[in-house]
Amino acid sequence: MKKNSVLIAPSLLSADFGRLKDEIEKIEEAGADILHIDVMDGHFVPNITFGPIMVSAVKKYSSRPLDVHLMLTNPENFIKTFAEAGADMISIHIEATNHAQRQLDEIKRYNIKAGIALNPQTPLHHIKYVISYVDFILIMTVNPGFGGQKLLSPIIKKIKDCKELCERDNPDCQIEVDGGIDLTNVAEIYKMGAEIIVSGNAIFKENDYAAVIEKMRSLCMKIF
Ligand code: DX5
Ligand code: ZN
Repeated sequence: MKKNSVLIAPSLLSADFGRLKDEIEKIEEAGADILHIDVMDGHFVPNITFGPIMVSAVKKYSSRPLDVHLMLTNPENFIKTFAEAGADMISIHIEATNHAQRQLDEIKRYNIKAGIALNPQTPLHHIKYVISYVDFILIMTVNPGFGGQKLLSPIIKKIKDCKELCERDNPDCQIEVDGGIDLTNVAEIYKMGAEIIVSGNAIFKENDYAAVIEKMRSLCMKIF
């Protein structure tokens, strides 16, 4: 049975960018463990968001690990830039590269945690031979590109399968889950084996961020 405590990683994509410094302070006071930053290039996903300049800006005001989710084609061109901008965790998508191990090793050379991300439709066996190189696996429970989408429930089973794969091939690897997570489904996601919960809309759409984060934590802890 799982005993790890849950880590809550609010996604800044749903924050108010006009007041980003205040939002960072407010979300950290509210109990965020990690800040999740979604980098989109308009090619790998049909949206454009932040670049390294934004990551450095967040770094200035944040005291939490910055988790940079690269939704980019050719992620190899950007690892150095995001490392220098202050990322503490970087995930690349398995669908975006044919040389995942090389890039995961590069991320780790900067002393940054290296993650591999999977779109909802991507089978787990696509990461079978890279799992030993990762610090974490990011399972997408929505098609990436936008905040505020509904979680795709068939993907919940994939978290459990991923947990089994990790236990067999890389027991230190953490599972992060991203997309459509709210108070109605967080406990189930955690129970399946997620240790890092990304949540954007469910937290930032409320006024009281601390209340949502606390509620998410207690829902996860209640099941054991
Ligand atoms: C989607 C992003 C997510 C998103 C999560 O492409 O990777 O991190 O911001 O936001 P919610 O929780 O609103 O789905
Ligand atoms: Zn994300």
